Amino acid sequence: MKRLSFIIILLSLMGTNQLLAQNKATDKKIEKILQQLTLKEKLDMCHAQSKFSSKGIARLGIPELWMSDGPHGIRPEISWDSWEHAGWTNDSCTAFPALTCLAATFNPEMSYKYGKAIGEEARYRKKDILLGPGVNIYRTPLNGRNFEYMGEDPYLASKMVVPYIHGVQENGVAACVKHYVLNNQEHWRDHINVEISDRALYEIYLPAFKTAVQEGKVWSIMGAYNQFRGQYCCHNELLVNKILKQDWNFDGVLVTDWGATHDTKEAALNGLDIEMGTGTDGLTSSLKNAYDNYYMANPLQKMVESGEIDESVIDDKVRRVLRLMFRTNMNSSRPFGSMNSQEHFNVAREIAQEGIVLLKNKNKFFPIDPNTTKSIAIIGENATKIMSLGGGSSELKTIHEISPLEGIKKQFKNAQILHAMGYASGPSVYGRVVSSELNADSLKNEAIKVAANADMVLFIGGLNKNHHQDCEGDDRKQFALPFGQNELLSEILKVNKNTGVILISGNAVEMPWISKVDAIMQTWYLGSEAGNAIADILSGTVNPSGKLPFSFPVKLEDNAAHSYDEMSYPGDGVKQIYKEDILVGYRWHDTKKIKPLYAFGYGLSYTNFKLLNAKADKSTYHENDILSLTCEIENTGDTKGSEVIQVYSNDIEASVLRPLKELKAFQKVTLQAGETKTVHLKIPVKDLAFFDDSIMDWNLEKGQFKLLIGNSSQNITKSITITVE
Ligand code: BGC
Repeated sequence: MKRLSFIIILLSLMGTNQLLAQNKATDKKIEKILQQLTLKEKLDMCHAQSKFSSKGIARLGIPELWMSDGPHGIRPEISWDSWEHAGWTNDSCTAFPALTCLAATFNPEMSYKYGKAIGEEARYRKKDILLGPGVNIYRTPLNGRNFEYMGEDPYLASKMVVPYIHGVQENGVAACVKHYVLNNQEHWRDHINVEISDRALYEIYLPAFKTAVQEGKVWSIMGAYNQFRGQYCCHNELLVNKILKQDWNFDGVLVTDWGATHDTKEAALNGLDIEMGTGTDGLTSSLKNAYDNYYMANPLQKMVESGEIDESVIDDKVRRVLRLMFRTNMNSSRPFGSMNSQEHFNVAREIAQEGIVLLKNKNKFFPIDPNTTKSIAIIGENATKIMSLGGGSSELKTIHEISPLEGIKKQFKNAQILHAMGYASGPSVYGRVVSSELNADSLKNEAIKVAANADMVLFIGGLNKNHHQDCEGDDRKQFALPFGQNELLSEILKVNKNTGVILISGNAVEMPWISKVDAIMQTWYLGSEAGNAIADILSGTVNPSGKLPFSFPVKLEDNAAHSYDEMSYPGDGVKQIYKEDILVGYRWHDTKKIKPLYAFGYGLSYTNFKLLNAKADKSTYHENDILSLTCEIENTGDTKGSEVIQVYSNDIEASVLRPLKELKAFQKVTLQAGETKTVHLKIPVKDLAFFDDSIMDWNLEKGQFKLLIGNSSQNITKSITITVE
C-alpha cells in the first residue's frame, strides 16, 4: 500500500515537473515572439478585428483568435461587422440544455460531459474561445438571464463550473467564464453601479469565479457590463488587478463583454487584455473601420508613444494572449473536435432527463402509462415553441429540436393526443416585444373545448426566450406567468380537474393555481432533445432526479432582493445596493423564516428514499482537517431512482450573523429498487469559515457547528453537532 502511494506521488511529481518544464518552454517562445512584434501588432492582439475575432500576426504565422457564444451550443456565424447572421449553411449545432438544467442535475459528471461535448463542437467549428459558462448568482427571479447561469448557491455553482471548464479545455478550446461580476440583472446592465459589502462579494458572488480560476484553471474570463463601486467591471482595479490577477493568480485573458470598455487608461492599467464589441456595426457613430478607434487600439498606441503608459503594460497583455494561443490555436496536439454526433445528442438528452424537477405529484399523477389509450389534451404554446431560438447571445441554430408535443406523440403511440395552443406570445425579436397577431379569445376558447373533452390535460406553458421573458438585454416585467396563462389555466381547471402542469422556463414563476393542479414539473430549456427527455420522464422510462438550483418564492416580495425598496432592485438608474447582503436565496428564506413555495435543493422522485445512520468521523476538528461524513441511503420504493444527499452547515456560536444553512457538500446516488448504498462526503473544515470584512479574510471561529443532512434545504432529516477547536 505504502509502495503504491509512493509511486503515485512520484508519478504526480513527474507530471508536475513535466508541466513546469512545458510552461517554461512556452514562456521562452512567448518572449521570442514578443521581441519581434511592433507596438501596433501587439495592440492588434488586444482588441477586436470583427464581431467575434481579434487579429493574428500574418507575417509571423500567428493565427487570429476566434470566439463564439456559448454557453448552450455554438452560436450560428455572425457577420464580420454587424449582428446579422452570416447566412452560412454549415453552422447548425447540437443545442444542449440551459445551464439552469445542468445545475439542477446536481451532478458534476453531467457537467464534464456537457463541457466535453460542447468543447468538441466549438473545436470542430474552429473556435478558440467559447464564451461561457456563466456563473452569475441568481439574485432575483426577474433577471432575464438566469437561465444561462447555475443558480443561487455559490457552492453548487463552483462544483458544477469546474468539470464544464475541464471538458471544454481538453479540446484545446478556452472556456470563458462570465460575467465577472455582479451582472445579476439585465435591466440597466450596461451602466448600473453595484454597491455591496465585501462579505457578500466574497461569500456569495465571487466563489464560483474563484473556483473556476483556481480549480478549473480556466484560460479566459469575461468582464461584466456593470460598474462596481463606481468603476466599470472590465477595468476595475480591485476586481481585476487585485482579486483576479494578484490574489487568484489568474494567468489567462480577461476579455470584455461586448462594448463594455469605457476608458483607455483604466483599461490599460487595470488589467483588461482583450477589448471586444465596441460599436462597430454602422448603427452607432463608429467610422468604417471602427476597430482602430477601440479604446485599446489607436488611443492606447498614442498613450504608449507619448510615454503616458509604459509598453511593458501592453507586453503583459500580449503574453497572456499568446499563452492562451499556445493552449488553443497554437497547440499542435489539439484534437479535431466533432459536431452533431449521436453521442452529443445523447449527452443533451441525458442532462435534460437528469435536470427535470418534479415539483408536485398528487395521487401519482405522473408517470403516465406509455401504453395508455386515453385522450391527452396538450395545451400551451410551449408544447411546440422552439426554444433554442431567441434569448439573446445564447441563441442557437440547431440541427433539430424535438418539441414536447413531438416527444409525447412519439412515446405515447396508443394515446389519443389532442393539441391546442391556448395562448400565443409572438415571435422572439431581440430588444423588443412583438405581439402575436393571433386572436387570444379564439385560442383560449378552442383550448377549453379541447381540454373539456380529454381524459387528462397536460398544460405546457411557462416563459420563453422573448424580450422581457427569459432573455438577455432586459428583465421580466412580472413574476406571474405571461400571455394570460393563469386565466387560461383556471378556465381549463373548471372543465377538467385531471390536469398536470409542465413549466418551461429558466426562472421561478408565481403559481396561484398550485393547489388546484395535481402535478407540476419544472423542465427548463432543454435544447435539441427537449421533447424526448420530457416524454422520458412523463412515461416513467426515466425517474426524475433534478433538484431546484434556486428557491421559488410564493410571491415576489418574499425574495430577498425584492424585500427592500427599489434601490435594492432595480436601483435608481445610476446605482443599486444589494441590501439583503449575504442572505441570498435559501439563505434568506431560512434565516428570515419565509417559507418558499419550493425550496432550493427540492425535487421529487417516482420512488422514495430513506436516509439512515448519518455520522461524522469525529466530534472535534481542527482548521486543517477534512471532515468525513457517511450515511446510508435506501431506495424504499419499487423503481430505480437517484437521490441527492445534501449537507448544510449551521454555525451555532457565530459572532456575526450567519445564514441558518449553507450548502457544503452534495452527492447524487443512483439506487435500484430496494438497494442501500453508503455515501461518503468530505468537507474541508476551512469551508465552515465566513468572510470577515474586519480582517478582509476568511475567519473560522471556534465552537459548535451543526451539519444538517437532507434532500433539500427545507427537508433536513439528520443533524450532527461537531466542535471546531
Ligand atoms: C453578452 C455576452 C456575450 C456577448 C457576445 C453580450 O451582450 O452579455 O454574454 O458573450 O454579448 O455575444
